[in-house]
Amino acid sequence: MTQDEMKKAVAQAAVDYIKPKLEKDSIVGVGTGSTANFFIDALAEIKHLFDGAVASSDATAERLHQHGIPVYDLNNVLDIEVYVDGADEFDPRLNLVKGGGGALTREKIVAAVAKEFVCIVDSSKQVDLLGAFPLPVEVIPMARSQVARELVKMDGMPVWRENFVTDNGNLILDVHDLEIINPKALERELNNIVGVVTNGLFANRGADVVLMGTEDGVQTLTL
Ligand code: A5P
Repeated sequence: MTQDEMKKAVAQAAVDYIKPKLEKDSIVGVGTGSTANFFIDALAEIKHLFDGAVASSDATAERLHQHGIPVYDLNNVLDIEVYVDGADEFDPRLNLVKGGGGALTREKIVAAVAKEFVCIVDSSKQVDLLGAFPLPVEVIPMARSQVARELVKMDGMPVWRENFVTDNGNLILDVHDLEIINPKALERELNNIVGVVTNGLFANRGADVVLMGTEDGVQTLTL
């Protein structure tokens, strides 16, 4: 099975998982990335079962529109039944590193509102300890160098993702070499640096369930 086939299988598993939870007025939160794209394609098959979606990026909003799924501004929505998104890494506590696609801030906002966060991954994303994947940090452009110096003090090695601007008009620093022993504490500490918009650790609001595509089928992981 190729990685794309695993992503497709897990995307379909996510649709099967959320289907019984959806009602006519339900809103689905939709993540960003290649796995989320497969999910959007599968979600389109059941678009008659729910009201619409909130998108975590412009790219996702565009793909939802292409499928004829109504996209709502989060400010006009009270509840999100479920949020479905990929991840760059997940650990045994279902803490995540996200933001490889640069959509981390909107992803974190939608995840915070959702009643349930379903993370969809292929088995390459499973790790014992987070941090091999460089941790994305979204920063206000004028604070880029200052935030980078603060990250170096924390023993990280920030690399500016050049020629990339987030949907919010900000920049990304990808932080290498971080020892992520305590993801919840590090998430808070990084968000406390002045100039940081948010960071790609999803630990204080991690996944409720991870659906992982493997060679032998889709595994469901919960705490
Ligand atoms: C987007 O900013 C990310 O958080 C993605 O969810 C993450 O990078 C996973 O993407 P893939 O599904 O493409 O691996």
